[in-house]
Amino acid sequence: MNLDEELCTHFGIAHTRWATHGEPSALNSHPHRSDKDNEFVVIHNGIITNYKELKKYLINKGYEFESETDTEVIPKLIKYVYDNRENDSITFSKLVERVIKQLEGAFALVFKSRHFPGEAVATRRGSPMVIGVRSEHELLTEHIPVQYNIHERNSRNRADSSSAINSVGDGRAVEFYFASDASAIIEHTNKVLYMEDDDIAVVTGGKLSIHRMNRQAGEDPVRAIMTLQMELKQIMKGNFDAFMQKEIFEQPESVVNTMRGRICFDTKKVVLGGLKDHLKEIKRCRRLIMIGCGTSFHAAVATRQILEELTELPVMVELASDFLDRITPVFRDDVCFFISQSGETADTLMALRYCKERGALTVGVTNTVGSSICRETDCGVHINAGPEIGVASTKAYTSQFVSLIMFGLMMSEDRLSLQKRREEIVHSLKMLPELIKKVLSLDEKIKTIANELYQQRSLLVMGRGFNYATCLEGALKIKEITYMHSEGILAGELKHGPLALVDKHMPVIMIIMRDACYTKCQNALQQVTARSGRPIIICCQDDTELTKNAYQTIELPQTVDCLQGILSVIPLQLMSFHLAVLRGYDVDFPRNLAKSVTVE
Ligand code: G6P
Repeated sequence: MNLDEELCTHFGIAHTRWATHGEPSALNSHPHRSDKDNEFVVIHNGIITNYKELKKYLINKGYEFESETDTEVIPKLIKYVYDNRENDSITFSKLVERVIKQLEGAFALVFKSRHFPGEAVATRRGSPMVIGVRSEHELLTEHIPVQYNIHERNSRNRADSSSAINSVGDGRAVEFYFASDASAIIEHTNKVLYMEDDDIAVVTGGKLSIHRMNRQAGEDPVRAIMTLQMELKQIMKGNFDAFMQKEIFEQPESVVNTMRGRICFDTKKVVLGGLKDHLKEIKRCRRLIMIGCGTSFHAAVATRQILEELTELPVMVELASDFLDRITPVFRDDVCFFISQSGETADTLMALRYCKERGALTVGVTNTVGSSICRETDCGVHINAGPEIGVASTKAYTSQFVSLIMFGLMMSEDRLSLQKRREEIVHSLKMLPELIKKVLSLDEKIKTIANELYQQRSLLVMGRGFNYATCLEGALKIKEITYMHSEGILAGELKHGPLALVDKHMPVIMIIMRDACYTKCQNALQQVTARSGRPIIICCQDDTELTKNAYQTIELPQTVDCLQGILSVIPLQLMSFHLAVLRGYDVDFPRNLAKSVTVE
């Protein structure tokens, strides 16, 4: 379809989604169809888990598939059911019922068919579905059941007017919208009905009706039309005040999405589909070079040590701009990773082109399917954190972190000496969402500490080892949105300069976890307290040794050393959010900064 053409239609279905099966391409895009004549077309949000069996069955029946998606079995299956119907009077909704009986997984579906012109059928199980109703008619301002009739309007574009856009008695239009989320339709209407699992909604003859699958006589459901009180912006943020806050709280789910389908927690096997064909080449490489900017660079710093341990390769971490400034030597047997939430950061993209010219294997680690970095790298990993809107990156960081750890696990699968270590990490990854939730439950405490700090001019964040990246990332969050001066300091460097900044007025956040650097961090703490510094200590739960020296503590659940940075960064994300709110700044759109920096 030419997207520039003006569309003249009274009903359309479309769907944008994160690619789950097959690459993002025209063929894999929705709607999917039963055949070249588009007898049945369908859009689908969710995942059909038994699609392989259904596909095999339908291929045996002579159906030819054109995409790699799970969804395509649905239009093929409904055509199969239609072609094998016992009588001609079967309704569209009956066909849909028969199809969804065969489906396993999660779905929200909208069907259209040439055999049932002007009619659409929608259903759901496991995936959300909301119906928006737009009319100026007073009927819709009331709380009414779903079953209502409206008169037809003579459509300007179609002879048959039994469509989804009709008119009520006084000639004004009614429109129906089907969507997974109210945010998609709120700009058109605030009148919505929420469908339940196994509801079948039919729009035909200018009427919307909903019934249950396998309904018993007289059992029609009543789904009330509700008036949403919120504005578009608020709905998208849910109950949160800012996108950044929402994204911080999404991390228990976003890390699961990063791991979904890639880790088998029983066998400890990790497969990153986008890298598996290049694994041999990567294992033979001279060194790994991790390149990024801002938060994405910090994800490289955070995982460098464990990648060195698991891959037994030299790992360089590079800021893209500096890497280019230095005209860094790159060789054909180097493997270069380009880490970028947006996949569009100009510095990172330039570094990618630079490495490509020199014949290195290039790997993208991005959150944006179809972005320039995705397209131009030889292979890659989508971190699947979901869209990130707040300029200050949060959930993308923890998902980049998890993705790079998974890469290390994949590289070390056949190293006997590393099996115990791998098991410990895989087990801890499984527990990670629960531990993140525990850290998020400290929000109130962190807010109280922020209340004491928000008028300060400066804030130092100190740590070392696996938590050094947390210091850099925490200080960046504070700079980005609170405009306070903040520095991430490697605790080992304290005595080489930063100690001069410490006095009784200087707030210092110290990250001291029970890992190999514990004793060295305690030394740093003593140096700070000896100069009357006021340490706020982020430490492991019940670490009484530390709490007695602290001005304040934030106690976190303990996990394996190389994942602790995922937990220790969250209090600093929350802290920067509260500091920015208290200082009266726009958290999502900090001054002078952009989410995606597409200039060098
Ligand atoms: C900008 C943003 C930062 C981000 C950096 C890298 O500077 O303000 O928050 O970390 O770009 O972005 P990327 O999309 O490449 O991860």
